[in-house]
Amino acid sequence: MKCKKCGANDAEVYLAYSNLKLCPECFMLLAERKVRNTIETYKMLSKNDNIGIAVSGGKDSATLAYILSRSFEKIPMTLIYIDLGIPDYSQHCLEKVKELSKIIDRDLIVYSLEKELGFRIPDFKSTIYGRKMCSACGTVKRYLFNKITYDLGLTKIATGHNLDDTVEAIFNSYMEGNVGALVRLKPVLPKTHPKMMPKIKPLICLTDMECLLYATYRNLPIRMLECQFAKRSRTIRRKEVLNLLADKIPSFKHTFISSHYRRILPLLEKALGGQSVGDEMGIFDCPVCGMPTSLRSMPCHFCKIVSLLKRKA
Ligand code: AMP
Ligand code: FES
Ligand code: ZN
Repeated sequence: MKCKKCGANDAEVYLAYSNLKLCPECFMLLAERKVRNTIETYKMLSKNDNIGIAVSGGKDSATLAYILSRSFEKIPMTLIYIDLGIPDYSQHCLEKVKELSKIIDRDLIVYSLEKELGFRIPDFKSTIYGRKMCSACGTVKRYLFNKITYDLGLTKIATGHNLDDTVEAIFNSYMEGNVGALVRLKPVLPKTHPKMMPKIKPLICLTDMECLLYATYRNLPIRMLECQFAKRSRTIRRKEVLNLLADKIPSFKHTFISSHYRRILPLLEKALGGQSVGDEMGIFDCPVCGMPTSLRSMPCHFCKIVSLLKRKA
């Protein structure tokens, strides 16, 4: 079977949602075009930007860094890796992001939790987060993406959240009725406070499988280990359920996300009057660290879980 685009090479990739069979070269060009279109549609980048790219050692952020770096050569970009101190895993990922930084010729900043803050993610085992390590880890990462971007004087931060990640997160927010989280799950989160840095998700148009194929065909360095705390997490199980749906209805994920952004989100935002989206009315300064938080007169989530950890130590 020949590639449906070029008609010359053998097709290796089948994209069920658009019924396309492509050769690796045409697939990579398509993936790159999709990311550039997403960036344009949502006005994610401008020529005065100086961005941070959060790289984890995984397939998504490697794909992200490679496509951004190649497509926007003139925009300054710095790779940011947070060393979470997870035995074996964090060191393994660090080696991958170092390699990636060499390949794309962009600087890498390594932020070590242990060196900078005196703790590691596994230390949360002794707290109420013991069984919800990923949740504590998520809070730490989100806080640091913002703080590092701010401290380095960068204009925004890009993360490798892809289509599957976003569909899963939207689905979960629906399930829990968490409207506040639902309206924050946007491709672009603008600056709504002097210390709240804009966040962009340029891979929102690519599936898990597309990111894996892209990273593999480009031969990008990606981790071979799984985080020991992620095994059979709820996120993974929800993704499996959504994949079953996509097996039956190939366009399911794409339709779900586009209906959400085009039809439901605007109505939700209107109904909420912007309050939960994180405008000035709903953002306060954390009395402990001074960074923005949605909690009035209370330490931010990050400061809360870190103080919990210090009390247990
Ligand atoms: P995850 O929360 O693990 O699904 O990762 C989502 C995105 O967050 C990745 O695609 C990266 O852009 C970023 N990320 C995750 N872990 C790290 C890390 N240790 N250092 C820097 N960025 C990360
Ligand atoms: Fe955060 Fe595994 S990478 S808990
Ligand atoms: Zn704080």
